[in-house]
Amino acid sequence: MNESFSLRAVPFRNRVFVASGTFGYGDEVAELVDLDELGGILTKSLSLKPRDGNPPPRITETASGMLNSIGLANIGVHKFIAEKIPKLESYSCAVIANIAASSVEEYCSVLELLDPLKRVDGFEINVSCPNVKEGGLSFGTDLAKVALITKELRKRTQKPLIIKLTPNVTHISEFARAAEAEGADAVSVINTLIGMAVNINTRKPRISTTTGGLSGPAIKPVALAKVYEVHKSVKIPIIGVGGISTWEDAVEFFLVGASAVQVGTANFINPAIGIGIAKGIAQYCERNSIDDVAELVGSLRADTKLSVIQSWL
Ligand code: FUM
Repeated sequence: MNESFSLRAVPFRNRVFVASGTFGYGDEVAELVDLDELGGILTKSLSLKPRDGNPPPRITETASGMLNSIGLANIGVHKFIAEKIPKLESYSCAVIANIAASSVEEYCSVLELLDPLKRVDGFEINVSCPNVKEGGLSFGTDLAKVALITKELRKRTQKPLIIKLTPNVTHISEFARAAEAEGADAVSVINTLIGMAVNINTRKPRISTTTGGLSGPAIKPVALAKVYEVHKSVKIPIIGVGGISTWEDAVEFFLVGASAVQVGTANFINPAIGIGIAKGIAQYCERNSIDDVAELVGSLRADTKLSVIQSWL
């Protein structure tokens, strides 16, 4: 049974990745989990300079979900190269560097620093963080900006370039098309949904920035619908992300059109969950005489004549 996947000839052992921001830079988690059993690791978003992120409280639990407003806290690209890359050298699993920035120039500078490194297999571009005033959603909700960022980064790398899209727009498919047109190899669908939680005793928001990004099982139905919409609109692969915590969830994402998946919030409960999900997918395929996970991708049996999304695409 073939569970592998590739982008621009970069091979991934299987189709289960760990989502940016839920697995550090991989090295800390390596003490608990065999990284080489994963399809790949998406690093926490890297910026040119280190960022402290937003003040606490910046995480709170909600019904079936997690609300975060980390504010892109990270060690900065230089420290990542000096301290984290050497620790990842002994693993063979793919490392995809996630990049966040507050200007097009900053995205380009970070990518140019990482691109020559053998241990960096590709890039996921965060144009969708809902927790910062500069960059993040202000880029990800602007079609021209998404197109420009993709175009500029495409010029600077031959490695896989993946654009991580926000669901906080009317039609995510327009953004996927813009990324595809400018040379993206794949899109990650979706980043978090803007959400809020309130403490009724203090009458204060539960996180310092008032709103944050909602993730976890609560957003899985939204993520599935967005992947379905994007699958109807572009030819490049879609990496489905949003509330996946079981292999059955992952199979749902394949059926609606994802070529691979990322496990995010569930890593905070069990950092080895992605490995279990990959095994569950393989067993499901074997039980159902499926020779290649690719056979599942987009194989949903829906009546497209009755599909509401289909009518406005
Ligand atoms: O606030 C954060 O660091 C979250 C980032 C994201 O959702 O992209």
